[in-house]
Amino acid sequence: MKGGAQGMKISQVSLVLIGLVCLTVLALAWTKTTFLTSFSPTQSRVLQLDLEEGPKEILEGKNNSVQTGIKQVESLSSSGTEVAVEMGNTENVAITDKGENPASVPDKLLGGKSKSKQAEIALENSLTVDSSAVKEQTRNLSANTGKKESLPTVLERTGSEDSGVKDKSKQGETTRQKPLAVEPSVKREQTRNSSATSGEKDCNYAQGKWVFDDNWPLYSGYGCKQWLSPMWACRLTQRTDFEYERLRWQPRDCKMEHFTGRKFLQRMRHKTLAFVGDSLGRQQFQSLMCMVTGGEERPEVQDVGYQYGLVKARGAVRPDGWAYRFPRFNATILYYWSASLCDLEPINASNPHTDIAMHLDRPPAFLRRFLHGFDVLVLNTGHHWNRGKLNANRWVMYVGGVPNKNRKIAEIGGAKNLTVHSIVKWVDSQLPLYPHLQAFLRTMSPRHFFNGDWNTGGTCDNTTPLSGGKEVVQEKSSDPVTASAVTGTGVKLLDITALSQLRDEAHISRYSIRATPGMQDCLHWCLPGLPDTWNEILFAQISSPTKS
Ligand SMILES: *[C@@H]1O[C@H](CO)[C@@H](O)[C@H](O)[C@H]1NC(C)=O
Ligand SMILES: *[C@@H]1O[C@H](CO)[C@@H](O)[C@H](O)[C@H]1NC(C)=O
Ligand SMILES: *[C@@H]1O[C@H](CO)[C@@H](O)[C@H](O)[C@H]1NC(C)=O
Repeated sequence: MKGGAQGMKISQVSLVLIGLVCLTVLALAWTKTTFLTSFSPTQSRVLQLDLEEGPKEILEGKNNSVQTGIKQVESLSSSGTEVAVEMGNTENVAITDKGENPASVPDKLLGGKSKSKQAEIALENSLTVDSSAVKEQTRNLSANTGKKESLPTVLERTGSEDSGVKDKSKQGETTRQKPLAVEPSVKREQTRNSSATSGEKDCNYAQGKWVFDDNWPLYSGYGCKQWLSPMWACRLTQRTDFEYERLRWQPRDCKMEHFTGRKFLQRMRHKTLAFVGDSLGRQQFQSLMCMVTGGEERPEVQDVGYQYGLVKARGAVRPDGWAYRFPRFNATILYYWSASLCDLEPINASNPHTDIAMHLDRPPAFLRRFLHGFDVLVLNTGHHWNRGKLNANRWVMYVGGVPNKNRKIAEIGGAKNLTVHSIVKWVDSQLPLYPHLQAFLRTMSPRHFFNGDWNTGGTCDNTTPLSGGKEVVQEKSSDPVTASAVTGTGVKLLDITALSQLRDEAHISRYSIRATPGMQDCLHWCLPGLPDTWNEILFAQISSPTKS
């Protein structure tokens, strides 16, 4: 009997203990997030992709070199050799093998640590969801009280510079309290913004400053598996500094509408947005897919690539682009790979080793064929305009349908200038036929190789955001060739060069899983990251009521 009583006591005590533990966990979880369900994304998925997809893609890249014709040329720079080819030029393009790939490192490192890492990831996820939930609540609140947008504006502008240096782990606590604090500088900002609203039409989104914002980024770098390439998801690498994710661009003279996926889709109902350009354009495309979905899985989104001929050719690593349709809104977002923005045509189609005619003055066939169906077009080119890359791709300059003889055009700068002017002129000539079309030309995305170039040990190691300044005050674009091309046309400039120039800490840097060891990627950007800002500025401009 005595033993029985003791047994009862012990089980009672343990029941109480278990209850206490459960309560504590619940309470903790509750303070961290209003949505317990946000813990659901599982770590196993994250690691699998991290460890398997990188090396697999790289190995596939090797086979890719057996292909022929244009496909070979195009995939060369979008295959496993992408980093090398995109970043600089050319020969001896290095392909990492599995053993050297940094992506295989976590396998060993995470052996004992995976639990805490998992917790960390869950926490990160919950924080992201949490902050957006707060935003949503605030927005609803302001809608109910009839105070139009004033609260969210305050909320969105509270991320001050001082809060920027804070430890990421403390963010959970600060996010909730922040919205109440209105700093003097914030008030000034609002006054200026409201007075600028009337003159929004000619406001310059390129002028402004970077501010830290606890509500950024708009999606988690652990999520968006459906669209975000693991090679650009810096959260899946060994990188540990993520301050760069929280920087938001604040234009000086324009009120920039806060981006939400819902607003975007509503505005794009029955419409199609197309990115056409190089791998930086592809980054912007992936960024937009993640922003629109909030990084959440969307099984209902349809792959409609086949409607644009964007299907994987036999033996190719990937198609020349992707197209996705949101069925509820009948809105489509697509990307087409055209690094030079001019037409490429094999000189001898029956010869697998043929040179490719690069028709500088002729738009890509894809655009000629599908432009009529686009409502928003975002073009970009830039980093493929160098001698090494032209040679590696066997691109031969043609003008007027014949090999170019003009020496000024033969120089890379002259050729690029001619192409950029030609494509803009052509798009401009099509605008009267398609009044629904809004066309943008994005300016150059800057590279940040210090102490060398992409293939001579150049680095972008700085992890302190904005160490070179946070503000753009100049009126002129830092990319005069692109800016001059659109002058006097109906094509708009998406001018992101100067504001991106301030963000040398936001590249993939040493955490590239594609480049050879020791080589850094100071060309592409971490996602979430800078291209999100390009899209926010794009969204602000397509939302302008000058065209419907
Ligand atoms: C979807 O949008 C396209 C225009 O982009 C339009 O032609 C088509 O009729 C729409 N489909 C439906 C089902 O509304
Ligand atoms: C095209 O290439 C094929 C195969 O290499 C060759 O037989 C043919 O002569 C070439 N045609 C021209 C016009 O050069
Ligand atoms: C670029 O091309 C345009 C149009 O062909 C021309 O007017 C301009 O002078 C060129 N600029 C440079 C720097 O070559």
